[in-house]
Amino acid sequence: MAMIFEQESRTFSEYLLIPNLTTRLCTPDRVDMTTGIVKYRKGVETCPLRINLPVTSAVMQAVSDSGLAIALARTGGLSFIFGSQSIASQAEMVRRVKKYKAGLVQSDSNIGPDSTLSDVLAVKARTGHSTVAVTDDGTANGRLIGIVTSRDYRMTRTPTDTPVKSFMTPLDHLVTGREGISLSEANDIIWEHKINQLPILSEDGRLVGMVFRKDYDDHKENPDELLDNQKRLMVGAGINSRDYTERVPALVEAGADILVIDSSDGFSQYQAETLQWIKQHNPEIKVGAGNVVDEEGFRYLVEAGADFVKVGIGGGSICITREQKGIGRGQASAVLEVAKARDAYFAETGIYVPICSDGGIVYDYHMTLALAMGADFIMLGRYFARFDESPTRKLLVNGTYVKEYWGEGSNRARNWQRYDDGGEAGKMAFEEGVDSYVPYAGKLKDNLDVSMAKVRATMCACGSVSIEELQQKARLVVVSATSIVEGGAHDVIQKESERHG
Ligand code: IMP
Repeated sequence: MAMIFEQESRTFSEYLLIPNLTTRLCTPDRVDMTTGIVKYRKGVETCPLRINLPVTSAVMQAVSDSGLAIALARTGGLSFIFGSQSIASQAEMVRRVKKYKAGLVQSDSNIGPDSTLSDVLAVKARTGHSTVAVTDDGTANGRLIGIVTSRDYRMTRTPTDTPVKSFMTPLDHLVTGREGISLSEANDIIWEHKINQLPILSEDGRLVGMVFRKDYDDHKENPDELLDNQKRLMVGAGINSRDYTERVPALVEAGADILVIDSSDGFSQYQAETLQWIKQHNPEIKVGAGNVVDEEGFRYLVEAGADFVKVGIGGGSICITREQKGIGRGQASAVLEVAKARDAYFAETGIYVPICSDGGIVYDYHMTLALAMGADFIMLGRYFARFDESPTRKLLVNGTYVKEYWGEGSNRARNWQRYDDGGEAGKMAFEEGVDSYVPYAGKLKDNLDVSMAKVRATMCACGSVSIEELQQKARLVVVSATSIVEGGAHDVIQKESERHG
C-alpha cells in the first residue's frame, strides 16, 4: 500500500514570518550574512568554506558563465558554472574566474592592424565598450600597437573605410603599465597622467589587460568580495554522474573551489557512486549533491559523502518536471523537512551538513523565508538571468526589454552535445524545462544590494543578526487564501501596475 505524507506540499508564498522583539542591537549594519556551505564539526571547528552572502547562482547555461560568476563573487556570493558544455570549455570558464584580477580587465574588444573604422564600430556595437585595443594579431593578448577611443575619430567626418592605423593613438603616445603592477600603483598612474585607461603589458609587449579608472573605484565598493586564500575570486562548478572521471580532475586543475552534482532527482545510486569516486580520487575538493526533497534522500547523499545537499524538485520557474513526471514537492515543505533531517543528523553525529534551497524564489522575501525555514544558502536561476551579466541575449519584445532564460531540461540546453562535442544530441522522449523570457533588470550588484537590504531588514524584524539565529528564532505561520489577497495592495486603484519583488 502506498504511503501518503500527512503534511500537504506547501510553497513559500503560503507562509509569513511573525516578528520577534527587535532590540537596539539588532540593526541591518550588524547583520552577519556569511554562511558555511560545506559540512563540518559544528562547535568543534570552523566551517572550511564560507560565503559572504547566502546566495548562489544556478548551474544553468542561461545563468552561470564566467561573467556572471565574477560579478556574483565580487558581491560576496558564489556561482556554479554550468556543466552542460564540453569539459574543456567549462574548465576554461573556471580558469577565467580564477585569473580575474579585480580592476584588471581582460579586453574582449580587440582588432588587428589592418582593420578599419567600420570594424571598430562593429566591435563597439558587440561589446558596448568604448575602448578598443589594436594588437598585432587582433587577439586579447597580442602585441599592443595602439588603442582607439571615441576621441580618435569623428563619426561625421571619418570615412568608415579609414584604416585604424591612421587614427588610433599609437603605442609610443600611450602611457602603459608593466605586468605585476599593483592596482593602487596603476591607479596612481591613471590620476597622474589624467587618462581613463591604462593598458598593462608583459615584458615582450603583449597586452595583459586594462585598468580603467571607473573599475578601480568600483573595487572599493565591493567589501564583501568572495576571495580564496590567494586573493582570487571563488567559483563552483556543476558536474554530472556520467563523465565525472574526466570532468572532475579537469575542473580541479582549473581551480574550482567546490563542485555540485547537478540533477533534478539526486536520490540515486549514480550520485552515490559519483561521490565515492570523487572522495577516493580527488579528496581535496568539496562536492555537494542533490536534489532531494525529503529525509531519506538527504540521509542517503550524506552517508555517501556529500559536503552539502541541494533541496528542491519541480519548483524552478522554467521547470515542468512536476507536470511531466509527477514528482516533486512544494519548496517550503521540502526545505522544512530536510532542515529537520539535517538537525537530527547533527544531533546524532556532531556533523553539520549545510543545505541549499534551490529554485522557486520569486519575491525577495522568499529568500528570507527559505533561510528561516532552515536553508543555509539559496540557489537562484530566474533571478540572475535578468541581469546584464548573465550570458544570454537582451531583446526588445513588445516594447519591453527581456533576457532569454531556458531550463537545463529543455531541448535547447540538452542540444549542447551536438554543438560542443560534435556528438549526438541527448536523446529525449520529453522535455523537463521550457525556453522563456524574463524581464531585463539591469546590473547584478544594484539588484542584489536591494534584495539583501530587504533580507537584512526582515532578519532584524525577527530579532536576528545571523542566519543561524534566524533559523533558531523564526516563527512561521501558514496563510489562508483570503489573507494572501490582504497581503498585496487591495481595494485601491494603483497608479502603476508594476509589482515590487
Ligand atoms: P528558478 O530560480 O526558480 O528559476 O529555479 C532554478 C532552478 O531550477 C535550478 O537551479 C534547477 O534546480 C532547476 N532547473 C533548471 N533547469 C530546469 C529544467 O529544465 N527543468 C526542471 N528544473 C530545472
